[in-house]
Amino acid sequence: MGRILLGVSSSIAIYKACELVRELRKREHEVRVVLSPFSEKFISRLTFEALSGNKTFVDWEDDPLLHINLPRWSDLFIIAPCSINTLSKVALGIGDNLLTTCALSHRGTLMLAPAGNPEMYKNPAIQENLRRLRERGVLIVEPEEGKLLCEEEGQGRLASTERLLDWVEYSLRPKPLMGKRVLITVGATREFIDRVRFISNLSSGLMGFSLARVFRWYGADVRVVAGFTTSQEPPNIEIIRVVSTQEMREKVIGLKDWADLVVMNSAVADYRPAKTYSGKLKKEKRLTLELIKNPDILEELGKEKGNKILVGFALEEEEKLLSGAEKKLKEKNLDAVVANPLQSMGSNFYRGRLIFKDGQHFEIEEDDKLKAAERVASFLIEKLFKYPQKYR
Ligand code: CTP
Repeated sequence: MGRILLGVSSSIAIYKACELVRELRKREHEVRVVLSPFSEKFISRLTFEALSGNKTFVDWEDDPLLHINLPRWSDLFIIAPCSINTLSKVALGIGDNLLTTCALSHRGTLMLAPAGNPEMYKNPAIQENLRRLRERGVLIVEPEEGKLLCEEEGQGRLASTERLLDWVEYSLRPKPLMGKRVLITVGATREFIDRVRFISNLSSGLMGFSLARVFRWYGADVRVVAGFTTSQEPPNIEIIRVVSTQEMREKVIGLKDWADLVVMNSAVADYRPAKTYSGKLKKEKRLTLELIKNPDILEELGKEKGNKILVGFALEEEEKLLSGAEKKLKEKNLDAVVANPLQSMGSNFYRGRLIFKDGQHFEIEEDDKLKAAERVASFLIEKLFKYPQKYR
């Protein structure tokens, strides 16, 4: 995975940098930390050494070329938290300590996550410095709104670890999908019987949300139409929420001309009650529900496909995994289909098979859903967008 140089400057949000190092290591990245001199008054370098498993630096010690060697070693340089002072020094090209000098000599992607008092952040001088940094291609992960330790409310809280991790993954990947628009449907639709009861399925949305993350990492403009989900929403992506299959259909059809690629990962309820009671149905000896068929959204998209790329997920019993998925690939006029065994629904793990309309098959070996999603997306990018890079 990536080699990440983490610069830490003085802010009370420094405790979140410890969590960031831990999470980066869990995701198999190698991490080295450089502290600004003042930040060591908040947390000792020993903490960062223990968490990163690497020596942490505050100054040059015995290596006069450390400010060249550390950035040269890294794939990505992040400064988080980036104090308002360090932000301005980087914008103006001032190198007065190891951390800011590393930023001067670094040639790859530089990502700054500012944290500070909202009034300081809003200051026109700081906004001007942010604009300069952006113009130079520096990735700024904006602070979040909320109440700060200084008791003021506003924009100044360091971005969440979740958002920072997502930007790290984004920064480490090539961008073959830049300019492409991807629509992904996620989760389960619900069909209400009465005010409080519904028909639905086990889908957690984890695979669909993972696919959305991954497509963004490879440069696509991603939108998600999601039914009910129990998984954490991906950061930095617009999510349109719906409840029923008909609502999902309406949103998807509304976005069909926008999208270059539609991935229907949602588990769509095939039937809905012919009548929905507005109150709560009383218990009787027997209840017969009449169900009527819902529209098949993917089939409808396939009928007016044009140049759009369509990918479906077919949920099948093991013995019909391939034949069932291949049938849906043909009948719904798809470019590719992912054959899902029943066990994958609602689970954290995934195993399946990706089938293209030219008959080529790829095994998606058992893995957690984020890794499996990246494998599926990489094959799709390679085959359907002709991007000549194998899965990393
Ligand atoms: N799908 C859809 N609209 C529906 C049902 C399914 O768009 N009303 C999409 C799903 O999102 C998925 C694909 O079609 O991408 C296959 O869905 P699946 O549930 O596996 O199969 P069905 O077509 O519903 O057929 P069956 O339930 O008989 O297996």
